[in-house]
Amino acid sequence: MIVTVTLNPSLDRSIEVGRLERGEVNRATSASLDPGGKGVNVSRALLANGVPSCAVVPCGGDEGGQLIRLLVAEGVDVRAVPIAGPTRSNVTITEPDGTTTKINEPGPELSPGEFAAITDQALAAAGPDGWVVACGSAPPGLPTSAFAEFCHRVVGAGLHLVVDTSGPALRAAAVAGAALLKPNRAELAEVVGRPLVSVRDVVAAARELRSWGAGAVLASLGADGAVLVDGHGVVTGDAPVVRPRSSVGAGDALLAGFLAVTVARNAPPRVPPSEKQTENHTSGSRRALHEALAWGAAAVSLPGSRMPGPADLSRDRVRIDSQPDEVRPLLASG
Ligand SMILES: Nc1ncnc2c1ncn2[C@@H]1O[C@H](COP(=O)(O)OP(=O)(O)OP(=O)(O)O)[C@@H](O)[C@H]1O
Ligand SMILES: [Mg+2]
Repeated sequence: MIVTVTLNPSLDRSIEVGRLERGEVNRATSASLDPGGKGVNVSRALLANGVPSCAVVPCGGDEGGQLIRLLVAEGVDVRAVPIAGPTRSNVTITEPDGTTTKINEPGPELSPGEFAAITDQALAAAGPDGWVVACGSAPPGLPTSAFAEFCHRVVGAGLHLVVDTSGPALRAAAVAGAALLKPNRAELAEVVGRPLVSVRDVVAAARELRSWGAGAVLASLGADGAVLVDGHGVVTGDAPVVRPRSSVGAGDALLAGFLAVTVARNAPPRVPPSEKQTENHTSGSRRALHEALAWGAAAVSLPGSRMPGPADLSRDRVRIDSQPDEVRPLLASG
């Protein structure tokens, strides 16, 4: 089972405006309220594509209740963990050229008991050989040592740990032996402590995370696509988007697409043993990256943090390059 863990989820209000004028009255052209949080998005994207997962979500106050109601209404298998502080609300404003402005509340602190309850829920829900996918920022005040302990418990239980976060928590996940990390360009640059201006820089940084203990690194690079560095080598790719609408949640969709293929490949009930044995590992990595890029590009084409379903995917637009031009400079700002 894929279990997503969102330590600091939110109620997300997405607003589209003609043009954002600071200090003026701005008229919304559309508005929506969605369950928010990176792990929650991964579960929503998987659900939209028929891949089962469950979402462990701390839930507090009226906002927490509304978040859970929205998730349940969408059909997400939610495991709510009650907490004392109220769940946060975030606002995203999108302009027609795809520019997004976000205003994020810090969110409630978690007590050590609440954090332990979340960890217990994740381990119980994952079952043997499961995948625990921890995404998003740590809540305020959570020590890195507590997140490191969470990572060690997951890995120590023989589960596959996947982490999409930043800073010291990202480093701790690598050191704990996460199976997969999904930093974006800024997060990867920050954790290795240097700017990344070319594909070669990204590959070197991803290899550094592997040297700390991570199994694979899926580095997302916005319009430049993504780079996968795993035990089989390096694969890069991208998928052009004609009309980007909102990049919010694109990284979450990318990760969900990657997991949809990777977990299906590893889980015996979904893959005939003969196919599993004969599959070339390199082609498995390419397939997973290909699907990831299709889901990421589709998310960028959709408004707000809407997650793509099968009808939104354009797999034929994805370009995979297993012999990348490593000196190619990255174009998108990072
Ligand atoms: N402008 C774009 N054009 C085409 N593809 C894009 C664009 N922006 C993002 N993508 C796709 O989405 C993926 C994830 O984007 P990005 O690197 O911005 O993730 P992120 O910063 O983690 O996003 P978030 O945390 O908001 O989900 C990219 O790897 C790429 O496949
Ligand atoms: Mg991200």
